[in-house]
Amino acid sequence: MHSHLIPGIDDGAKTLEKSLAYIREMQALGFQKIITTPHIMGDHYPNTAEVIMAGLQDIRDALAKENNLIEVSAGAEYYVDEFFVDLLDSNAPLLTLSDKKVLIEFSTFAPPSNAFEVIFQLLSMGYQPVLAHPERYVYYYDNFNFFQELVNKGCSFQVNTLSLIGHYGAVQKKIAYRLISDKLVTYLGTDLHNGGHAKLLLKSLRNKKLQSLLSNYEFQNHLL
Ligand SMILES: [Fe+2]
Repeated sequence: MHSHLIPGIDDGAKTLEKSLAYIREMQALGFQKIITTPHIMGDHYPNTAEVIMAGLQDIRDALAKENNLIEVSAGAEYYVDEFFVDLLDSNAPLLTLSDKKVLIEFSTFAPPSNAFEVIFQLLSMGYQPVLAHPERYVYYYDNFNFFQELVNKGCSFQVNTLSLIGHYGAVQKKIAYRLISDKLVTYLGTDLHNGGHAKLLLKSLRNKKLQSLLSNYEFQNHLL
């Protein structure tokens, strides 16, 4: 879960060929199902369900031509800002990971002022918020209990695999392991944007500490 494979609509795969190449690389690593999640971020990536679903269809058609049977679906990664609040207020249906699970992300620079309000609003609309890469929100590091509070309010957490090998930095890695040891994490995601990430995924799966984590911690990806 969590990747950027719809070609040309965010900072992920730029072309259909690249997208297919990343999918094949993930398959080679053992992935059997992919939920791709393009950014929906204000003016920056003003993607809509129509745009995302059309891109998904292109990917599915290309895979079918190759007789590639991997399952690919699409949700979105909603950036929590005023555009997202407007979207919620307009009652437009949101793209989901599965069932009613909605992937959201915060700024990596500054905490949102309305985290609890957004979670509450999503829950009251019948959605289940899943927060992408909480370990990247280092501004909560000195207020670690805030992570627990987000979970208590009904938010699930998705950690990035590459955070666990320090790809985003030492603090992010530390937070990721601590969130896991505190049993606050529900899902593990790739957040794959490019070929470099695909190579690092291979490296991370060879990492002994990560291997033992994967065999001991019960991530709930199979529920998606
Ligand atoms: Fe992402």
